[in-house]
Amino acid sequence: MTDYDEMLSTVGRHLRPNEIRKLTSLLGRGEVISFAAGAPSAETFPLAELTEIAARVVREHGKFALQYGPTKGSSTLIDSVVSTMQKRGVHSSAAAIILTTGSQQGLDLVSRLLMNAGDVALVELPSYVGGTIALHNAQARLIGVRQDQGGLVLADLRDKLEAAQAAGQRVKCLYTIPNFQNPSGVSLALERRAEIVRLAEAFDFLILEDDPYFELYFDEDRAQRTPLAALNPERVIYLSSFSKVLAPGLRTAWVQAPPALAAKLELLKEGADLSSSVFDQAIVALAVREGLVENRLPMIREFYRVRREAMLTALEQHAPPNARWTKPTGGFFLWMEVAKEIDAKKLLPTAIESGVAYVPGQPFFVDDSGANTLRLAYSKETPEAIATGIARLCSLLHSAA
Ligand SMILES: Cc1ncc(COP(=O)(O)O)c(C=O)c1O
Repeated sequence: MTDYDEMLSTVGRHLRPNEIRKLTSLLGRGEVISFAAGAPSAETFPLAELTEIAARVVREHGKFALQYGPTKGSSTLIDSVVSTMQKRGVHSSAAAIILTTGSQQGLDLVSRLLMNAGDVALVELPSYVGGTIALHNAQARLIGVRQDQGGLVLADLRDKLEAAQAAGQRVKCLYTIPNFQNPSGVSLALERRAEIVRLAEAFDFLILEDDPYFELYFDEDRAQRTPLAALNPERVIYLSSFSKVLAPGLRTAWVQAPPALAAKLELLKEGADLSSSVFDQAIVALAVREGLVENRLPMIREFYRVRREAMLTALEQHAPPNARWTKPTGGFFLWMEVAKEIDAKKLLPTAIESGVAYVPGQPFFVDDSGANTLRLAYSKETPEAIATGIARLCSLLHSAA
């Protein structure tokens, strides 16, 4: 028997499955109301328009769109991303943008570009598992920073930076999802954003700002969402995506980095895939040009706002007195903390039997805490199903406590 393990790299030997994806692929079938999957609702996909656009791309631009393309991505789409970034208040240029196969590829490339084995990446407690896996695969040492209702707790961030410094560990980056965070639903308070950028300058690290939910706000207070990249683009690698505002199957997203780093990312990407799908990018570019993203945003925001409302209302009606939950002002997720003695992972099989599913919170914590927490996504179920599902979940929580 060949010992493949012996042939593997350190990375190959320590690969970890994404616990959340493993779980969500099993859920959402049959009678189970699922708050597990964190994906957009397919009801928001503009199917008819995309059918027409895809046909046009082949008919009118097929010779180009079905060919290999530049590693950085389509220049037409890069130009429109530059203006999107400027609308978000971030100084941008084509030299700063790389189009990627979803933000997930951006997270992987950036992690591999920055991290040596043992370098520290600070991550939020809890954090997006796709992000922490990318950093883990680059052999980073992950250290969690606490969050409260206003996102990252600055005192804890300073403590972690000072502790790493005292231990002689190199902190290379802070990975943060400042708007409507996956998984907690909280947003980073405006006044903390400037301070985090100051800390990045003082302690000489980069900020990985993962912002796929920027446009999915439920109120108009735009200033609250000011990207960290707007405060100092030299210190921030910013990622965003068309997944939540158009369709994740198109796997089209972007990284904005200081141009010197963007050039390095381009080289790394060339070795990974030559380029992302030219065809997908052509579809997205045409969809953007036709206003298909911009014009549909008000409808998409309202679509998810109604679902968030349904979940909050049902929780207020049914939740046990010792439960607490976040009140997201955008995005797909709400975070729930239940009685200390409840282990959300152990309770899940019973919940599924009772016809409701969620994601236990623990896999989102790099320090393995959070056994009595859970993530509830309101993106995929109808408001009626949300009301029924929350009633089922809460009745279970009442009897489990
Ligand atoms: C915070 C965060 N980052 C990145 C991604 C990946 O997005 P994409 O579809 O662009 O790869 C997701 C998807 O759920 C996410 O929630």
